[in-house]
Amino acid sequence: MKILAISGGSKNGTNDQMAKEALMGAKEMGAEIEFIHMLDLNLVPCNGCVSCVTGKDGVFAGGSARCVRKDDLNWLEDKIYDCDGVIFVMPIFEKGLPGFFRAFQDRFAGPSHDIGMLTIAKSIWEQKGSPAGGGPDPRAFKPRFATYIGIGGSDWACRMSADFNLFGMVQMWKVVDDLVFTWAKSLTMEDDRVAQIREAGRNIARAAADPAGYRYLGDPGICANCHSRLMYLTDDAKTVECSVCGIKGELVIEDGKIRFVYLPVQLEHAHNTVPGKIKHVEDIGKNEGAFAAAKQTDEYRRRAEAYKAFIRPSRPEK
Ligand SMILES: Cc1cc2nc3c(=O)[nH]c(=O)nc-3n(C[C@H](O)[C@H](O)[C@H](O)COP(=O)(O)O)c2cc1C
Repeated sequence: MKILAISGGSKNGTNDQMAKEALMGAKEMGAEIEFIHMLDLNLVPCNGCVSCVTGKDGVFAGGSARCVRKDDLNWLEDKIYDCDGVIFVMPIFEKGLPGFFRAFQDRFAGPSHDIGMLTIAKSIWEQKGSPAGGGPDPRAFKPRFATYIGIGGSDWACRMSADFNLFGMVQMWKVVDDLVFTWAKSLTMEDDRVAQIREAGRNIARAAADPAGYRYLGDPGICANCHSRLMYLTDDAKTVECSVCGIKGELVIEDGKIRFVYLPVQLEHAHNTVPGKIKHVEDIGKNEGAFAAAKQTDEYRRRAEAYKAFIRPSRPEK
């Protein structure tokens, strides 16, 4: 049983310290532990090439869907795939996850690691007779646990849990604890909150040791499907969309409390279910097919050429 903690804080700062605190808890429960300081890694942003989807080793070719950019991503992927649980300890920036983590998210929680995408890639690979060296990494499908710990210097924190959950939902990791600490600059000196983090480390190790006994220990939230509290009011100012799992419903007040109500049919396209993900991939497949066909036309080439010729991008002298 192996638990990995990834900290996104400054070197030896509060996030690093609290990642280690959680690992101490995991170690007490008998876990093998590993610690990664995220800013030690070279992780370049996704450039939107979509090779992971439409490339020769992409999803629709029954390939691995691995990112083609060369940096430390594959190293980090191996570290994550080789563990049973990951504790993410991230500083809160602008009310949510920091930009460098979002850049990692595009690479690790975009199409290349989406369980719906990888399920389709696997089935295409199997239809081709499962050629050696092809298909997605089987470790991507291994049940895995995640614990989220957000640490902020103020109470600007309302996107943090939603950001974390949107990230882990893509791989369908089972969330154990989901903790956001506000006004937490001196967290290291606050024994009660430090103890909560140690316990979170124990909790994820317990879940990894006994997956059948898994229980979600985080905040129940407003969305009964994914525990999110972040809701998007759509144009009619009546329908509300859960910003994390994407299901739509209404907010009602019962006994003085806000409740999010939705029809069961909504779950068919929820982003945290395999059928919901497969539906999304099928829709993307249709859209990509239409775009590929458009690109073959003279009219598309004419329009693309006109935009290219219109103006060149400014960039700094090297
Ligand atoms: C660019 C930037 C944006 C920040 N935005 C927020 C914020 O929106 N909410 C908040 O509570 N703290 C915010 N902070 C404070 C950080 O969360 C805090 O400095 C960090 O968790 C300290 O962790 P460390 O000691 O591990 O580096 C921000 C800090 C920086 C540098």
